[in-house]
Amino acid sequence: MCRVRAKIDGGGERARHRALVTAPFRGEGLTTLEGLADVVLDPWIDHTPLRLLDGEKLAAMVQEVDADLLIVESDFVSGPVLDLPLVAIGSCRGDPNNVDIAAATERRIPVLRAPGRNADAVAEITVALLYAVNRGLVQADRDVRAGEVYRDGTIPYQRFRAWELNGRTAGLVGLGAVGRAVKWRLEGLGMHVVAFDPYAPDATYSLDELLSEADVVSLHAAVTPETAGLIGTDQFARMKDGAIFINSARAQLHDTDALVDALRSGRLAGAGLDHFVGENLRVDHPLCAMQNVVLTPHIGGATYDTEANHSRLIADGIATLLAGGRPDNLVNPEVLDG
Ligand SMILES: NC(=O)c1ccc[n+]([C@@H]2O[C@H](COP(=O)([O-])OP(=O)(O)OC[C@H]3O[C@@H](n4cnc5c(N)ncnc54)[C@H](O)[C@@H]3O)[C@@H](O)[C@H]2O)c1
Repeated sequence: MCRVRAKIDGGGERARHRALVTAPFRGEGLTTLEGLADVVLDPWIDHTPLRLLDGEKLAAMVQEVDADLLIVESDFVSGPVLDLPLVAIGSCRGDPNNVDIAAATERRIPVLRAPGRNADAVAEITVALLYAVNRGLVQADRDVRAGEVYRDGTIPYQRFRAWELNGRTAGLVGLGAVGRAVKWRLEGLGMHVVAFDPYAPDATYSLDELLSEADVVSLHAAVTPETAGLIGTDQFARMKDGAIFINSARAQLHDTDALVDALRSGRLAGAGLDHFVGENLRVDHPLCAMQNVVLTPHIGGATYDTEANHSRLIADGIATLLAGGRPDNLVNPEVLDG
């Protein structure tokens, strides 16, 4: 087994590791990392305007602080920074697509990732969106603030009636880390939960069966060539009248024009969305004018717990690597062979 050691330019070893951390890092994971290395913490999230570093700027920072461990979340690890004698790179994401894995592997630099770090956070916002849509919470709040509790001759009790979630069926499309975290929460709320996921043996429904039975359809699949545009005109047409559609995963999974049509026709009761293609929605987009739609700007994972989770996963991975082990969250285990 290849033992990962602190390297210095002359090929010898240094007394103590030094970690440059440009990700938010906290909790138990930060304590673990401080036990392994001197930590230079400069999270991107503390910078306004937004600071995103590329491989060149990261290389300059790594050299400036003399780091041999690099932990990032949003910065791009490619090019010159990979020419430095790094002992390991941590990407605080489930999918470390901000790191040039092929180049890191070529240079035999281990890369760690943080799978499932935000599953609970996204599951909580999924439940929040579902309740907000079903009970009209955002519109009700607007009515109170606008002094329109009594409007057009109605009292709120007339405008905000809804079916309860308890006893109804939720259909989850995708039963990975987030899907599973959503499943037990909805079951705890009294819902019957069914799932479609060709790669999860316990997801026993076909997509068509799910669409025809579910009162709530909630998307939690990864975006792949197979799932891009998975929910379009035909799929919305197969949903039950009055169904609620939630997508806290990625907008690429549904056809937005078809969603607008399904909402306009009144077939869908409402929708909750946490992601838009291009990370933004035009203010004159039809969805923005629909009172039965709740829109949040990709904040599903934005909890302090997500940060604590990725900190623990990356720090534990580094501890395992430094002790000569093979962490489960190592993206390129081949760098430890030979
Ligand atoms: N809103 C946010 O801030 C936020 C944060 C994290 C993740 N996400 C998104 O949530 C989704 C789930 O993330 P995760 O961490 O659970 O990922 P994951 O990899 O754990 O789960 C993805 C699931 O999709 C399934 N899948 C693949 N192809 C499928 C298909 N054809 N049909 C149905 N299911 C299929 C996989 O089998 C897997 O179980 C992803 O789209 C991710 O990008 C959103």
